[in-house]
Amino acid sequence: MGEHEGKTIQVRSAPPGATVHVAPFKVKKGVMHARRVHMVEPPPNAQTPPCAVFGLCGGCAFQEISLDAQRQAKHERVLRLVPPGPKTQVLPVAGAPAAYGYRNKVELSFGVRCYLTEADNDAGKSIHGTFLGFHAPGRFDRVVDAERCELADPKMNAALAGVRTWWAEHPLAPWDVREHTGFLKHLVLRASTLGQVLIAVYTAEPTTPEQQAAMESLASFVEADSLLWYVNPRVADAAIGDLRQVLAGKTTIDEALGEMRYQLSATAFFQTNTPGAVVLYDLIGEALGSGERLLDLYCGTGAIGLYLGDRYEKVLGIEMNPAAVEDAVQNAQRNDRTQVRYIAGKVEDNLPVIQPGDVAVVDPPRAGLHPKVAKFLAKSALTSLVYVACKPESLARDRLVFEEAGWELELLQTVDLFPQTGHIEVIARFVRPAE
Ligand SMILES: C[S@@+](CC[C@H](N)C(=O)[O-])C[C@H]1O[C@@H](n2cnc3c(N)ncnc32)[C@H](O)[C@@H]1O
Repeated sequence: MGEHEGKTIQVRSAPPGATVHVAPFKVKKGVMHARRVHMVEPPPNAQTPPCAVFGLCGGCAFQEISLDAQRQAKHERVLRLVPPGPKTQVLPVAGAPAAYGYRNKVELSFGVRCYLTEADNDAGKSIHGTFLGFHAPGRFDRVVDAERCELADPKMNAALAGVRTWWAEHPLAPWDVREHTGFLKHLVLRASTLGQVLIAVYTAEPTTPEQQAAMESLASFVEADSLLWYVNPRVADAAIGDLRQVLAGKTTIDEALGEMRYQLSATAFFQTNTPGAVVLYDLIGEALGSGERLLDLYCGTGAIGLYLGDRYEKVLGIEMNPAAVEDAVQNAQRNDRTQVRYIAGKVEDNLPVIQPGDVAVVDPPRAGLHPKVAKFLAKSALTSLVYVACKPESLARDRLVFEEAGWELELLQTVDLFPQTGHIEVIARFVRPAE
């Protein structure tokens, strides 16, 4: 965030504290958006990003400042957007243990056009070729060719190196998103804290025996507990498709989150930073305290309720994505959590009968709570509510509904689950003061 003639300007890829030359490219909801053109003065204690495609891929714009400075900047942003009340205890910013190598899943694209640096452009380099990497921001048709990702678990970078070696020896055509031709579409890599690796390659429908043979040869280039081949005959540019063949190993890998055990497929939703999720869920648990029943609203695959479930007699999760609820039910069964129940549906359509003694955690999407939900919770018999926000602006709006109904923001904590990126999580506890 910066300022221009007294107006807020949001700058892509500019570290907090830096002075940069920018080029505006759009105004949305009164906020000017700009991209960085040139660093005039680096921020204090600037660092050299370890990433070879820093500034191109756009994923990790904070790499130029230390982890402490990143966390301080995130904390200050939260305090600016969600000002603490007179009785709010502001806890120190908490975070994921590792600054790099923490991501347990990455999705890469094969492509025929790459994204060039200005220097490459000036040198007359061609955008055409064969590439494997990340989508350039805002460019569906350009791939930032990447040998590795510094945020990814090192086991996934080893897997990526194996896939690249295989591809060099078996030069299958990458998918052309404009012309809808080619074969190799996406590569999904997953690694678990239990040391297991999943590799999923997504292709178009194979049409030649050479393609089949090349896919089958991949197993001798990589080490994976699960090596899967998916076919996506549609033109939609997404890592989706039908499982064509298990090329090696099994269909899922095992993961642990605290005492919970999970089996993750290529598509299963799971927190992207496993040790970071443990930090977040422990802090949510501390903020929630005890109660008879935990309401886990917007529960996804049930991770929070399952992680904290043994502290409550009952857990009720509500989630609108039926596939996530199916996963949640399986996760509960696998971990013998018999006190957990789920409702598949929208929270606003299934507002539960809240009983005295219930505590609730809400972890809504970026848009925050549906107005009906915020009003219902504000009037409910809950005594304590923990709001987990991935967009502080939404929390700032929803808090007003609680405060109007007499609730107080009692605790506020910024959690940095994704070092090097601008992502923020906030834990806010609201309590209804005793009458
Ligand atoms: C931030 S995620 C929550 C993730 C989960 N708590 C966890 O820790 O894994 C938000 C979830 O809300 C779900 N969702 C979005 N709108 C919803 C609604 N109106 N009712 C119920 N669930 C909704 C999404 O499908 C998504 O799973």
